[in-house]
Amino acid sequence: MIKYLGSKRRLVPVLEAVARAAGAGAALDLFTGTTRVAQCFKRLGAAVTAVDSARYAEVFARCYVATDADEVDHRQLAAALEHLQHLPGAPGYFTETFCVRSRFFQPHNGARVDAIRQAIDAEFAGSPLEPLLLTSLLEAADRVDSTTGLQMAYVKQWAPRSYRDLELRPPVLLAGGGRAVRGDACTLASTLGSFDLAYLDPPYNQHRYFTNYHVWETLVAWDAPAHYGVACKRVDSRDPATRSPFNAKRTMPSALRQVIADVDCELLVVSYNDEGWVGAEDLEAMCAHHPEVRTLAFESTRYVGARIGIHDPAGRRVGTVSHLTNRELLVVAGPGATVRRVLEQVGSGRAVVPG
Ligand SMILES: C[S@@+](CC[C@H](N)C(=O)[O-])C[C@H]1O[C@@H](n2cnc3c(N)ncnc32)[C@H](O)[C@@H]1O
Repeated sequence: MIKYLGSKRRLVPVLEAVARAAGAGAALDLFTGTTRVAQCFKRLGAAVTAVDSARYAEVFARCYVATDADEVDHRQLAAALEHLQHLPGAPGYFTETFCVRSRFFQPHNGARVDAIRQAIDAEFAGSPLEPLLLTSLLEAADRVDSTTGLQMAYVKQWAPRSYRDLELRPPVLLAGGGRAVRGDACTLASTLGSFDLAYLDPPYNQHRYFTNYHVWETLVAWDAPAHYGVACKRVDSRDPATRSPFNAKRTMPSALRQVIADVDCELLVVSYNDEGWVGAEDLEAMCAHHPEVRTLAFESTRYVGARIGIHDPAGRRVGTVSHLTNRELLVVAGPGATVRRVLEQVGSGRAVVPG
């Protein structure tokens, strides 16, 4: 999986325990990003819907969530990857923009990205292999980039990994079906159907994913856009349509409130960070239409989960949010019995030490 701002790698064991306790048959991952949480739900046998506004996230979701590993012709996939892997480099827009005018990748890798992406377009567009091959290319490029994980800038000296040769690997697919949806959570939330478990992991500050991962947007769109600045960002980064309401302090709280109200689910789990624009109490209030609401907090650096800030069944606060600095919050809302089962599971999970 790619390096990704706000990726929930270390929370996955907790979310897995939550999904197990909820017995989720139908699950929603509304801001899916890398799809690692959606994959965790799918691994447990849930029918997963994965949603994100980013083009590359839709590619990941089509690959890891919507594709059924049992339906894939693995020999054909291996042959396609072998073919693409051995294409000679053919410098084009990607090399010129991201290796010469900017320095996100070394030119020897950029030329191969150009050749491979061109061939995917010419030979596999519209085929079931397309999202798998694009995922393989995105992840291969990520392993040889020269950034700190964000694409607003590249490092001054080439990163050591950027000298390595780009290597396509087959994505590790999961059995079972699922759904990949690209779009704005605010307009989609009420249209997606009903779920046993809905997980919401929205952005929580001003850092836009569209600009921080503009290279991946362009690699998927393959539209050679005009660009600006040292980072060669897409010109449509300036277009208000590419802005998310979750990245502005003024619009974020109402957008989140609306999405939480619109999602039709038995158990709702919202990830948040206590450095964001909405406090834990506000977040709990947004979920108050569910019978029971509890907040879990996890150390964001060490990720030794520290469970604090829990309310009793009458809604009285047992912990205080002032102790939650630099913590990842998980608000769990739903029927009392389910929420209590989740807390028991998470509290006894290996990744979590009760606070
Ligand atoms: C914190 S990240 C999610 C990370 C993900 N849980 C993971 O572990 O990889 C937030 C995601 O929200 C997406 N996003 C931002 N605004 C959105 C919107 N209005 N609708 C849908 N997705 C949005 C971003 O593209 C980004 O992938």
